[in-house]
Amino acid sequence: MSQQRRRSAAADALLALAVLLGTSPPDAAAQLTAWRPLVARVNKDASTSLYTIAIKDGGGPLLLDLAGPMLWVANCPSTHWAIGCEGSDCNGIRNMFTPDVCDSAEWPVQGQDPCICTALPYNPVDGRCVAAQATTISIATNTTDGKNPLFPVTFPVVGSCAPGEFLTSLPAGVAGVAGLARLLNSLPLQVAQWYRLKQEFALCLPRAGDGVAVFGGGPFQLLAAPTVELADSLRKNPLPFLFNPKNRAYYFTITGIAVNQQRVPTPSGAFDMERRGQGGAAFSTVTPYTALRWDIYWPLRNAFDAATSGIARAEKVAPFDMCYQASELAMTSVGYAVANIDLMLDGGQNWTLPGASSLVQVNDQTVCFAFVQTDSSVPAHAESPAVILGGHQLENNLLIFDLDKDTSAFSGLLLGIGTTCSNFDFSMGSS
Ligand SMILES: *[C@@H]1O[C@H](CO)[C@@H](O)[C@H](O)[C@H]1NC(C)=O
Ligand SMILES: *[C@@H]1O[C@H](CO)[C@@H](O)[C@H](O)[C@H]1NC(C)=O
Repeated sequence: MSQQRRRSAAADALLALAVLLGTSPPDAAAQLTAWRPLVARVNKDASTSLYTIAIKDGGGPLLLDLAGPMLWVANCPSTHWAIGCEGSDCNGIRNMFTPDVCDSAEWPVQGQDPCICTALPYNPVDGRCVAAQATTISIATNTTDGKNPLFPVTFPVVGSCAPGEFLTSLPAGVAGVAGLARLLNSLPLQVAQWYRLKQEFALCLPRAGDGVAVFGGGPFQLLAAPTVELADSLRKNPLPFLFNPKNRAYYFTITGIAVNQQRVPTPSGAFDMERRGQGGAAFSTVTPYTALRWDIYWPLRNAFDAATSGIARAEKVAPFDMCYQASELAMTSVGYAVANIDLMLDGGQNWTLPGASSLVQVNDQTVCFAFVQTDSSVPAHAESPAVILGGHQLENNLLIFDLDKDTSAFSGLLLGIGTTCSNFDFSMGSS
């Protein structure tokens, strides 16, 4: 109830702000398209293995951070559209779910006139957090029918400025970070509120080429022979969120792991979440390879080692611990021919990882087991989930996050049905 009130107050404030900015809120012309979901391109940066989303009006894409609480852009001009201290936008920005490191961010001297809202932008790659001015960020994207982009739209969202040096650990050319967490000021909830859309988004991370994100529900179609609509069937197999008391990232419950249909002997309770929020399984787009706590990593690694004992090994390539000679691995439609890994989930579904998801080619001769051990000095590992399902394992899967029903859903590796995340038709449609 109170959240509903806050949400509509924030929408009203955005509307008033848009009038101030001279941008048009969903007016007569925009109304025609206002109820359509929005689509944006998602790309993989080859040198960092991180993902960007092309959603900002000018100035480069934003780093995609599924667990991030809000949006920020570096190098705001001195005349940026700052957010005032009064009102719901500022209350939302001061959310209590910033990472612990933000507790020690140096707060600016009070007494500016007019009073400007202070935000705490966080860099999920190097773990830095600062206090900075809250601002209005202009988003430019297209509406979609789930098949093609339809019409371009531009609208303002609440976010933060950040110092220019905050970009150093991020892919070259990015302008800031787009946080997609379950919080009022994250991108999916601001989009839903601005266009009164469903609080749901779909994400399809590419291994190469253009991947895609759709905000606001609706169908989701990829080119294949024949073309496939995926969203409907995914919504029929929801995976409930697991709630973490310390943040609003996306967690889910794993009950066990199997290799070649044999359950891996992990300690009992290894996947549970503790009261303080440690443990559980989390999705992360800023963790290039799935990270496992040591007591899960070693049993899995050893089981996979045994299941692939016939395949000649190669010199290890960091950060990986077990590698194979590429020439010794046969190929299938779902990647290298090796034993499947099953993540056994809440409700009895499995998330199956075939060779394309469990192995990665690191050079001409070498293919490695694409998992790492959790390292608490890595910022994205800091909250210590037991399993951090990372980029390589999420690629070429359609993921849907439903923030009304508190569920996610996944397609499994799309190669299995003859398509990939790079098969969204980005040519302009006409319906
Ligand atoms: C809308 O989609 C078209 C076609 O893919 C693309 O060229 C254009 O850049 C998109 N516009 C925005 C604002 O993203
Ligand atoms: C899930 O995986 C386990 C282990 O491989 C297997 O025993 C079980 O039959 C699978 N369940 C489904 C529904 O496929």
